[in-house]
Amino acid sequence: MTHAVKISGTGSYLPEKVLTNYDLEKMVDTTHEWIHSRSGISERHIAAEGEATSHMSAAAARNALDAAGITAEDLDMIIVGTITPDMVFPNTACFVQNQIGAPNAFCFDVEAACSGFLYAIDIARNYISNGSAKHVLVIGAEKLSSITDWEDRSTCVLFGDGAGAVVLSVADEGERGIMGTVMGSDGRLNELLNVPGGGSRHPASHQTVDDRMHYMKMAGREVFKHAVRCMSDAATTVLAKAGLTVDDVACIIPHQANARIINAIASRLGTKDGIVYMNLERVGNMSAASVPVALDEAVREGRIKRGDIVLFVAFGGGFTWGASVLEW
Ligand code: UT7
Repeated sequence: MTHAVKISGTGSYLPEKVLTNYDLEKMVDTTHEWIHSRSGISERHIAAEGEATSHMSAAAARNALDAAGITAEDLDMIIVGTITPDMVFPNTACFVQNQIGAPNAFCFDVEAACSGFLYAIDIARNYISNGSAKHVLVIGAEKLSSITDWEDRSTCVLFGDGAGAVVLSVADEGERGIMGTVMGSDGRLNELLNVPGGGSRHPASHQTVDDRMHYMKMAGREVFKHAVRCMSDAATTVLAKAGLTVDDVACIIPHQANARIINAIASRLGTKDGIVYMNLERVGNMSAASVPVALDEAVREGRIKRGDIVLFVAFGGGFTWGASVLEW
């Protein structure tokens, strides 16, 4: 028997410290005008020293559990989408399990860069749908400040830290919940966006540190083009798969990499005005945390109401991409 799967609660957490474009002007050769006009970003949150991805995840998780009206003991699984785990291992989800007290959950991370949260939702949905789980905590969380090269103006102006979480549960009678998902990858383009050092290919050494290989590298202009194409295509495909058109959609929550990318996707899809949710001006690009943080804000602001059709779409390193459509 298959079950419909819904989001039963959302939560998010942003670290206290805010880094503005004017602060960045003092760190690298840039201006607020350049950053804002090219990306739409004005400021981003930066985790405190000692504040790890799991700590931000646990804070977001507690909010999502409250909103869902369940306790951590009710969880069957915890999945964290992240490229900035606390450690190489154990996985970040195990750290979250320990912090929130979820003894009945099994835990693992998904590494699909900015698409990590959508990939994790898709996995969780399958477990619930086939009856293997009832409640799954899915988190997208990043401490991108820990892999940002603060001397590279082409990347350091873009990223921020934060965490978003949802609880996925069996939908009630008559609720459609998640209506369709589309996921894709293209490993041929791995060179365009990556962190080359610190893994098994280039293990950490004095040389890799001297060569700044533990920081994010991005060919921005190239990534931009692929992001627009892949997210537009994924959104179009997932709507068709669910038997919907863009006119049925009440709210689009896209990955928050760049306002120009989001506007290009909206124009390709032909969306109505005002349905695309954007928070990147205040939070920057938070990779796997972008979609769930934006979702939680949209829900708490009343931008998403019961019965609304909501579309998520994301794209990131790998390349990876994905889209999901659901009835709220
Ligand atoms: O989340 C995963 C997916 N990531 C993305 O989707 C990000 C995709 N890429 C982008 O969002 C954009 O490509 C950026 C915002 C990263 C860059 O915008 P752009 O319009 O593509 O600029 P560009 O890289 O073509 O650079 C234009 C100029 C260059 O100077 P020249 O060669 O024209 O003289 C750069 O050196 O801007 C210069 N530049 C800067 N100037 C001031 C690059 N970074 C900066 C900076 N401040 N921070």
